[in-house]
Amino acid sequence: MKKISIMNIKGGVAKTTSTANLGACLSQKGYKVLLIDLDPQSNLTKLFKTYSMEDLQISNVLLDKSLDIHKVIKKTDFENIDIIPANINLIFTERNILVDNTRSQQNRLSKALSKVNEKYDYCLIDCPPSLNIITVNALCASDEIFVPIKIDKFALDGLEYLLERIEEIKDEFNPNLNFKGCFITMDSATTVNKLIKQELKNLLGDKLFNTTIKQNVKVIESTFEECPVVFSNKKARASINYKELCKEVF
Ligand SMILES: Nc1ncnc2c1ncn2[C@@H]1O[C@H](COP(=O)(O)OP(=O)(O)OP(=O)(O)O)[C@@H](O)[C@H]1O
Ligand SMILES: [Mg+2]
Repeated sequence: MKKISIMNIKGGVAKTTSTANLGACLSQKGYKVLLIDLDPQSNLTKLFKTYSMEDLQISNVLLDKSLDIHKVIKKTDFENIDIIPANINLIFTERNILVDNTRSQQNRLSKALSKVNEKYDYCLIDCPPSLNIITVNALCASDEIFVPIKIDKFALDGLEYLLERIEEIKDEFNPNLNFKGCFITMDSATTVNKLIKQELKNLLGDKLFNTTIKQNVKVIESTFEECPVVFSNKKARASINYKELCKEVF
């Protein structure tokens, strides 16, 4: 099972949308996909209609060493896609991990996932817009990191800090971690967009993927249908872009 974190410290850059749609593209190719929601906002969980306040969720995986991870995995409406859901209680999990120093705090997700290594081809992890101990768990569990970037005035803020932290985590905890690269989301043909794209190219070189995901209202519509756009509207610009991205990066 190849494990990939979709992360950026910035919010609203299409981390969740990209996790869902890359997962959808992989599942259509016949790969078995496990999605993990690491964000208390639980947008990914809700998109796949698996939100619950009663059922076990990712928080239990991070806090309870003896828990069988199979009990937390839910089927989705889509063939080949399972999910480990989140709920709002994940807000308290960071503190609970930090006060429990009887166990190592960074590699809990990694250890738990080793039990389903043979069951899936890909595991895509949707990270929250921050770099807390929960995100560190994602990075310690991952083989690769993809960073979606939405172009705006602050697009580059925090990016260098993020790249430095990735290197630190690689050094300290996970030598297998590979920063695969960044891709532009909600792309448009404005002059500002072109300028920032050039800046990003200068900064990232071949770590900026060629494929960009175009701004497309069908993506927003798909969230109301609670269905990734790749499934709900195959011909939408963004669906085509996600298929191209999938081809480029996998
Ligand atoms: N290609 C696109 N075109 C238009 N809207 C998009 C596109 N991609 C994502 N969006 C919309 O942008 C918003 C933010 O996307 P998303 O929730 O995926 O970002 P995020 O990085 O996961 O946010 P957060 O940091 O809050 O978790 C959503 O309303 C989503 O529907
Ligand atoms: Mg999100």
